[in-house]
Amino acid sequence: MNERFIVSESELVRQREFAARVRQFPDRPQTFHIVTMGCQMNERDSETIAGMLAGMGMRPEAVREKAGLILYNTCCVRENAENRALGNVIWLKELKKERPELLICVGGCMAQEAGMAERMKAMYPFIDLVFGTHNMHRLPEYLLRVLESRHPVVEVLESDGVIVEGLPQERASAFSAFVNIMYGCNNFCSYCIVPYVRGRERSRERQSVLDECKRLVDQGVQEITLLGQNVNSYRGGGSEFAELLRRVDALGVPRLRFMTSHPKDLSDELIAAYGELEHLMPNLHLPVQAGNNAILQAMNRRYTRERYLELVNKLRSVKPEIGLTTDIIVGFPGETEEQFEDTLSLVRAVRYDSAFTFIYSKRAGTKAAQMPDNTPEPVKSERIQRLIALQSDISREILTAQVGRRETVLVESLSARDEGWIGGKTPRGHMVNFPGKPDLIGQLVRVEILSAGRNTLRGKMITEV
Ligand code: 5AD
Ligand code: SF4
Repeated sequence: MNERFIVSESELVRQREFAARVRQFPDRPQTFHIVTMGCQMNERDSETIAGMLAGMGMRPEAVREKAGLILYNTCCVRENAENRALGNVIWLKELKKERPELLICVGGCMAQEAGMAERMKAMYPFIDLVFGTHNMHRLPEYLLRVLESRHPVVEVLESDGVIVEGLPQERASAFSAFVNIMYGCNNFCSYCIVPYVRGRERSRERQSVLDECKRLVDQGVQEITLLGQNVNSYRGGGSEFAELLRRVDALGVPRLRFMTSHPKDLSDELIAAYGELEHLMPNLHLPVQAGNNAILQAMNRRYTRERYLELVNKLRSVKPEIGLTTDIIVGFPGETEEQFEDTLSLVRAVRYDSAFTFIYSKRAGTKAAQMPDNTPEPVKSERIQRLIALQSDISREILTAQVGRRETVLVESLSARDEGWIGGKTPRGHMVNFPGKPDLIGQLVRVEILSAGRNTLRGKMITEV
C-alpha cells in the first residue's frame, strides 16, 4: 500500500550529490538557524532539515541574527500562527539589507497551503527559497539552485504525500526522541487544514520504525514519543497501532509515549495496552474539540459526547491514574451559548490535567469556512476565558493532589525561574522543578513532591533503598 509514497533510493543518491556540491560551493552559508512553529511533527521535520543542512557543511548557530541561513518551518493550522510566521519573515527583510548574502528559506505547512507560495513569491521577493511539506527531502537540490542562480526558488508540489526513509538527522535531544510512524490525515474535520497541506495518511513500515527505535534505545535514549496526526489509524487501524506499541515497549525504552490519537479510532486493544505495557506512560492526549453533539457532528468528528465519555471511563478503569489532556475549539461557526456550556460540562466531567484551547480560526478551503458564523469575536473571547478559568482550577486541583507523592522524573532542563534548580516530567507528564545539578539532565531521578503551583510542581530529590 505504501510503495507509491516511498521516495526511491536513486532520488536520495541524487540529493546526496547535490548536498556534496553545496558543500563545495565557494560562498555558501557556513551556519544555519531554524525557527520551528507549530506541532511536534514540525519539530521532527526540523531535525531532518538540520541533518540535511549539516550534510551540506553548515553548523547550527544559536543566535538567529548571526546565521548565514535562516529557515522558518511554518504552521498554518490557525491564522495567528500564519501571521506570526509572515511577521517574522518580513522582519528578516531588514536583516538582509545589512547582510545581502543571508539566505532566507520558508518551508512547512504554510508554504504548502493553496496559493501561498505564489503569494510569497510576489509579496516577499527577498525570500530565497520556499518549499513545501512533500518535497523537503529535495532541499539540497533547491539550495544549490539558489546559490548558482542567486534567484529565488519557489517549489511546492501538489501531492498525496511521500515517505522518506534514510535522511540524515540532527536530533534536538540526546535523551528524548520523536519517531514518526505515519504522516498525513484522512479525517477532514471540517475546520482543519492539515489534510490539505500534509496529504493523505501513509504509514511507515513497522520494521523501519522498530529499527529506528532500537537504534535510539541502544544510544541510551530515555523516552520515545511515537508521532502521527492520527496514530490510531496506523496502517489502516485496528490493532496495528497497539501491536506496534507492544513491540516498541519490548525494546525496553524507559518511557514510551505517543500522539495524537483520534477518539473515533481509539481501539480496545490500545486501551488495554495501558494496563499491559511496562513502559507506556500513564497519559494520553485525546482531543475532544467540543462537548456538544451537534457541534461535533458539524466538525465531522464522528463520535458523540457520550462515546467520548465512555472511552474516558474505559481508560480510567484500566489505568486509574492516567492523566488526560485535550484540545478544544471555542466559537465554531454557529456555536450557541448552550452548546458552549456543553463543552464546559464535559470538561468538568472528564477533569483533564490540562487543555489546549483555541478560538476557531477560519481556514480557506475547509468545509467550515463555508458555514455561517454569526458569533461576535468578543463573545468568543469571553467563552474561551471562561473555559480557561475552569480548566485552570481543575489543573490546580489535580496538581495539588500530587503533593506528597514520590515520582520518577526525567530531568529535561534547567529551571528558568530558579538558579540551581532543574526540571522534568513525571510519568503522567506533570512538570516538577527541584534543586539539582545540571549534569542530571537526561537522567531519571526520584523526587518527592512538596508543593503545587498553577502549572508546575515543586519537589526535592530523594534516595530510596
Ligand atoms: N481553528 C482553531 N483551532 C484549530 N485546530 C485545528 N484547526 C483549527 C482551526 N481552524 C486545533 C484543534 C487541533 C489542534 C492541533 O489545533 O484543536 O486538535
Ligand atoms: Fe485536523 Fe482532524 Fe486530522 Fe486532527 S484528525 S489533523 S484535527 S483533520
